[in-house]
Amino acid sequence: MSDSHRVLVVHGPNLNLLGTREPEVYGTATLEEINGDLTAAAKEWGAEVEFFQSNHEGALVDRIQEAQSWADGILINPAGLTHTSVSLRDALVATELPIVEVHLSNIFAREEFRRHSFISPIAIGVICGFGPMGYGLALNALLEHLES
Ligand code: DQA
Repeated sequence: MSDSHRVLVVHGPNLNLLGTREPEVYGTATLEEINGDLTAAAKEWGAEVEFFQSNHEGALVDRIQEAQSWADGILINPAGLTHTSVSLRDALVATELPIVEVHLSNIFAREEFRRHSFISPIAIGVICGFGPMGYGLALNALLEHLES
């Protein structure tokens, strides 16, 4: 597939707790395991991934802004900020990079407030409800988009 596409993978607030956080909703895989699997998939597909997790909106905005200088695309699970953050959306738009949004859970099958995403309208696509596998699907889709 792609040769040397570079992708920033962003994990939003509380995703550092994966493995123990509401396992009935988010599963038992840790963030480290998810990142490890994604690194292996990226290698197989000839791409490079860099990871960033933060519980702080401003830190996420800073890292996203920096990505404009080196990344070819952004894969993001904005977590709770999905439903609240205009600033995160604005930062993603400012990069002018293709964005893929991913969620472990099916946000449409949960509470009403999770059904609205500030990010989805500016993403090239959204993958949700497939647990950790969603990250690989999202990366695959982003790389295909970069190749097209
Ligand atoms: C989440 C869904 C969000 O609604 C929630 O706030 C999260 C995780 C998911 O991956 O399913 O923190 O983004």
